[in-house]
Amino acid sequence: MTKNILIIPGDGIGQEVTVWGKAVLQEVATIFNHEFSFDEALMGHAAIEIYGIPLPDETLQKARCSNAILFGAIGHAKYDNDPSLKVRPEQGLLKIRKELGLYANLRPIILFNELLNASSLKPEVLRGTDILFFRELTGDVYFGDKHRSEDGNTASDLMIYHRFEIERIARKAFVAAQGRRKKLCSVDKANVLESSRLWREVVQQLAKEFPDVETKHMFVDNAAMQLVKDPKQFDVVLTANLFGDILTDEASQIAGSMGMLASASVGDGPGFFEPIHGSAHDIAGQNIANPIASILSAALMLDIDFGLKEEATLILNAVKSVLKEGYRTIDIADATSHSLKVLGTQEMGRIIVKHLRQMVPAC
Ligand code: IPM
Ligand code: MG
Repeated sequence: MTKNILIIPGDGIGQEVTVWGKAVLQEVATIFNHEFSFDEALMGHAAIEIYGIPLPDETLQKARCSNAILFGAIGHAKYDNDPSLKVRPEQGLLKIRKELGLYANLRPIILFNELLNASSLKPEVLRGTDILFFRELTGDVYFGDKHRSEDGNTASDLMIYHRFEIERIARKAFVAAQGRRKKLCSVDKANVLESSRLWREVVQQLAKEFPDVETKHMFVDNAAMQLVKDPKQFDVVLTANLFGDILTDEASQIAGSMGMLASASVGDGPGFFEPIHGSAHDIAGQNIANPIASILSAALMLDIDFGLKEEATLILNAVKSVLKEGYRTIDIADATSHSLKVLGTQEMGRIIVKHLRQMVPAC
C-alpha cells in the first residue's frame, strides 16, 4: 500500500512524541512492505513564530494533499496567561478541523490491565472498561459567533447546532455501537439548553433506525459523575464538542494517564490522528513525555484510514508487551511498585519499535 502521511509535530511535547508515532509507521511499512512517504509542516505556536499565523496556507495545502495526518499537540503557556492576545495557537487546530471537515472525533478509552494501578481510581471500578467516545468536532460553542462588547465588559460565544451536524456524527456512533456491545449513551444538557434539545430529538429519531442498539440519554453533569462511579456501564458515548472535550480528559484517568489516549478525527477527507493530551510545556524538552498516545494514534490511522487492521493490532500488542515487561514512562509508573522500569520518551519509543519487530511471525 502506498500512502502519503503528513506529520505536524506542533508545540511542546508534540515535537518529542510524534517522532515515535512516525517511527512505528516506518517500522510497520518495513515489516509489511508498504510504501509510506512522509512530509512535515508547522502549526500552532511553532507556525506563529515563523509566519505570524497558527495555520499557514502551506500546511493546509499539504494536509489536503495527504492521505492522513499525524499531529502532536498545540499551545504555549505564553498565550494561556495572556487572554488579550488575538493570534493564538489553538486557532490553527480549530481551523484545520473545520477546513478538512473533521466532524467526528473518536476517542477510545482503552485500559491496559497492566496499568490498573496507575489510575487514581480503584482497580475494581476500572477493570473491564472499554469506551469509545464520539465527540462532535466542527460545531457547538467552539465555532459559534463570538462577541465582545465595545466597553469590553460583556462577552458571548454562541452554542449552536444544525440538525445535519448532529445526524451525521450520530449515525457514525450508532454504526460503531452495532459493531461493539450495542449500547449508545448520548450525552447532552437537554434540561437547560435548546441546542441540546435539538441534539436529543435528532438522536431519538435516528435511534429508530438502529433498533438493535440500546440507546440511552444522559445529562452531562450526571455523565461526568457516572464516568468515575461506574465507567463499565458505557460502551459508545456520543456527545457534543465542548462536553466531549471535558469528558474525555476526565475519562483519560481511567486509562491511567492522558499520555495513553489517542484520537482519530474523521470526516470528508484525510483523517487526522492525534493524542488527546496537550503540549505540556512544563515537561517539554525533558525526555519524560509519554510517547504511547502518539504511537496509538498511528495505530488508529492504520486501522481507520487505511483499513490495515493487522498492522494496527501489531502496534497495540507491542505496547501491551512493553507494559507487561514493566516498562513505564513516569506518568504511568505506579509509585507503590518497585519492579517497574521507568524510561524516558526516547527509550520508551525505541523499546516499542523493537518489540514491534520482534512480534512479527517468522513467515
Ligand atoms: C483537544 C484540545 C483542543 C480542544 C484545544 C487544544 C483547542 O483540548 O483536542 O481536546 O479543545 O478541542
Ligand atoms: Mg481537550
